[in-house]
Amino acid sequence: MISKKLQRARDFENKYSSYVAEELPKFHVTAPIGWINDPNGFAPYQGEYHLFYQNYPYDTKWGPMHWGHVKTRDFVKWERLPIALAPDADYDKDGCFSGGAVEMPDGRHLLMYTGVRNVRRKNGKIDSFQTQCIAIGDGVNYEKHPGNPVIPTEQIPEGGSTTDFRDPKIWREGDTYYMVVGNRTPDTSGTILYFKSTDCIHWEFISKLASCHNQYGKMWECPDFFALDGKQVILTSPQEMNAIGLEFHPGNANIALIGVFNDRKDHLLRDNVQAIDYGLDFYAPQTLETYDGRRVMVAWMQNWETCGSHLPQQRFMGQMTLPRELSIRNGRLCQQPVRELEHYRVNKTGYQNVMMTSETSLQGINGRFIDMTVTVRPGNEDSMYRWFKINVARDGEHFTSIRFKPATGIVRVDRTQSGLPCDIVNVREFPVHAANGQLKLRLILDRYSVELFVNDGEQAATSVIYTPLDAKSISFSCDGTVLMDVEKYDLEV
Ligand code: FRU
Repeated sequence: MISKKLQRARDFENKYSSYVAEELPKFHVTAPIGWINDPNGFAPYQGEYHLFYQNYPYDTKWGPMHWGHVKTRDFVKWERLPIALAPDADYDKDGCFSGGAVEMPDGRHLLMYTGVRNVRRKNGKIDSFQTQCIAIGDGVNYEKHPGNPVIPTEQIPEGGSTTDFRDPKIWREGDTYYMVVGNRTPDTSGTILYFKSTDCIHWEFISKLASCHNQYGKMWECPDFFALDGKQVILTSPQEMNAIGLEFHPGNANIALIGVFNDRKDHLLRDNVQAIDYGLDFYAPQTLETYDGRRVMVAWMQNWETCGSHLPQQRFMGQMTLPRELSIRNGRLCQQPVRELEHYRVNKTGYQNVMMTSETSLQGINGRFIDMTVTVRPGNEDSMYRWFKINVARDGEHFTSIRFKPATGIVRVDRTQSGLPCDIVNVREFPVHAANGQLKLRLILDRYSVELFVNDGEQAATSVIYTPLDAKSISFSCDGTVLMDVEKYDLEV
């Protein structure tokens, strides 16, 4: 049964999406019109990969959450599907918040999400209740389960928050379903609750998989948990984080906890905690395991601090990052754009051993839909260069710069001049490994974004830009002498 609310949202999208199509990025997922935030339900289903997202079709601002829906075979080309969920039940009337999805053994598609129900008290205060709910469908249409909520607030462990109990990520191992969900402990800081079930309807609390005792922010939103290269990894997005050096920026941050299970397999013993992405716009990542065994992550390419800012005439807001393949190298989480992107590379232009002492442009090295790798090293054996910089999406007025200083080992991404007429955070800096001044930078540009991958994915830094499309020059500059290789492809999607 398609409710009136869901039908209205689907009709609205159909009516207006053709007007917005021209504005959209080429290969990053957005809504056809309106707002998106977190990726949801990113999982394989019947030979394809489905991705849902937090969606409010009627405005470029957050509103009562629906689940928008797309699917893909290769993570680059996406097929749009009708909106899947609307906040049309009593227990989710104030929003179908983030969650996950899984294919059931009988071929049905199960979505698990947080239902939000706000209650206004006599004194005017609003109490918000968050519970876990399911909906089952065929990959296009979904029925909410009559037993919802399947995890009511009563199942939260003693002292846990009933207001901050959200974002279930579900997966299946044999006959058992597992789920992690964010919550807050009595000290108000983030924790991840671990549940299991044999039918997705009756859930048993296993343990607190990880907590932070106020070390890494407050509410831990959108947790994910998986095995990778011999380790267990938790990804989560803490709210109200304090900055920790250049590793974690304040506000809505993103962290990876890497470690191993304890003997009982109900708690993560962590041996490394790091940022997942060091850029300006990255939040709430979610992963899946591909049919060929890769762990692929996608995130909201935005942040709560910056998402109120966009070009005035824009009719969509929010995008997903490019899906990325994860691995663990030297105990750290690494990420590379999905390999399928390489199928869309055309017009290779390459240069080797370009000696540079000031500013240079290279014939054929430009564009706004590109995949470019730049390798730098000192050009003079006796003296280290002082800095090296790439400016992309450049014209007389605009540019976004990536600068590296070997003396400090710090990369700086700066989009101050990228065309966004808002005074929001525009600069991020982060330390990289660059022995002897050698550094490899891969840049993927789509219409509104610059995704940077350092040293084959040791670090990533993702930033949204709002630069006119005809600003497509690229320049390189340095102080000192640099030797540089450049390989650039246009991306034809
Ligand atoms: C994270 C988040 C989630 C919540 C959703 C609401 O960005 O705050 O915790 O489910 O967004 O749209």
